[in-house]
Amino acid sequence: MAEIRIENLRKEFGAFVAVEDSSFVVRDGEFLALLGPSGCGKTTTLRMIAGLELPTSGRIFLGGEDVTLNRARERDIAFVFQLFALYPHMNVRKNIGFPLVAQGVSKAEIRSRVEETARLLQINNILDRSVSGLAGGDRQRVALGRAIVRRPKCFLMDEPLGTLDAEFRDLMVRELRELHNRIHATTVYVTHDQLEAMAMADKIAVMNHGIIEQFGTPQEIYNRPATMYVADFIGSPPMNFLRFRSSLQKGVRSVSVDGVAIAVPEVHQDMAEGELALGVRPEDIRFSDASALRGAVYGSEYHGTNQIVAVEMGNGLVKARVPADQNFQIGETVGLELNHSKLSLFDCASGRAVASSRYAEAHHG
Ligand SMILES: Nc1ncnc2c1ncn2[C@@H]1O[C@H](COP(=O)(O)OP(=O)(O)OP(=O)(O)O)[C@@H](O)[C@H]1O
Ligand SMILES: [Mg+2]
Repeated sequence: MAEIRIENLRKEFGAFVAVEDSSFVVRDGEFLALLGPSGCGKTTTLRMIAGLELPTSGRIFLGGEDVTLNRARERDIAFVFQLFALYPHMNVRKNIGFPLVAQGVSKAEIRSRVEETARLLQINNILDRSVSGLAGGDRQRVALGRAIVRRPKCFLMDEPLGTLDAEFRDLMVRELRELHNRIHATTVYVTHDQLEAMAMADKIAVMNHGIIEQFGTPQEIYNRPATMYVADFIGSPPMNFLRFRSSLQKGVRSVSVDGVAIAVPEVHQDMAEGELALGVRPEDIRFSDASALRGAVYGSEYHGTNQIVAVEMGNGLVKARVPADQNFQIGETVGLELNHSKLSLFDCASGRAVASSRYAEAHHG
């Protein structure tokens, strides 16, 4: 297996920029999720790594070797598509072994590698079955088997669970992660589903309009979003933004929102007068009669173990995740207490985080 490094990768289709100046490293054995909405450039990035698309500029390294101009077949990469085609007239064993036949590997070697692969995927009991009668999950496993059996340098997967129903998806997410824990294959996995990315990946690259907005561990992305876009894309419901106008001086420790002073993480740079937003996740808000930050209950959504309550504030709706047994009336005024150790502060003009208490914790505490 090998490290994947991309440097200042860019792809233009005519005047349209699909991928803009992407740089990141997937370390040997790491699982990276490329996460973002439709059209943000995920597949284009993956196809460039695979050698199916030539970058307009930038470089790609595989295991230290510059492969930017190498053809796909020279890169020793396995690409698993959403719409994989199994050979319907062959059984499972022949489907998995097919890439080795094409490479001219000996019969005995093929047999042992197919069986090793089938054991990894726990499909050794269906090796002699026909693929046409297989259920979705097993078909997916056979497709994965065909990729694994080649022992490629790395795996690229483009929404491989796209066509599976919800129940199978959860199962396959667990299986893919377990498989990764067993074989430690360097993997780039494309998805628009934040839950899949969070559940499987060691690192996540959040993309938006061809740009990587943040690259980090699932915990970093969730706890210290670098931009309002990331804060909004990750989490369900997403992070709340309490907007206000202010001029921030370096070292400031409190801001006024809705006329209420709120302690914030320390700001490390002077900011011109402008619109700011205090970012707080729903689970970091609780109801407290003592709080001066008040709003009217607008509605609630029951989730069994907790409930999401929408509260109308001076500058918009805020959603809080509170215990399921907490009672209140629609329209009732409630006080909101924000967990000061878990706030982010954003500059609305640039969308970038200017301070985060979790960031401060990680770096000073
Ligand atoms: N061959 C092409 N010619 C012109 N435009 C293209 C081409 N391939 C992709 N694009 C455009 O580039 C942008 C990024 O496409 P890409 O397929 O990488 O997105 P994606 O993030 O994979 O989206 P999805 O989640 O829908 O698969 C889109 O606007 C798409 O229309
Ligand atoms: Mg795509």
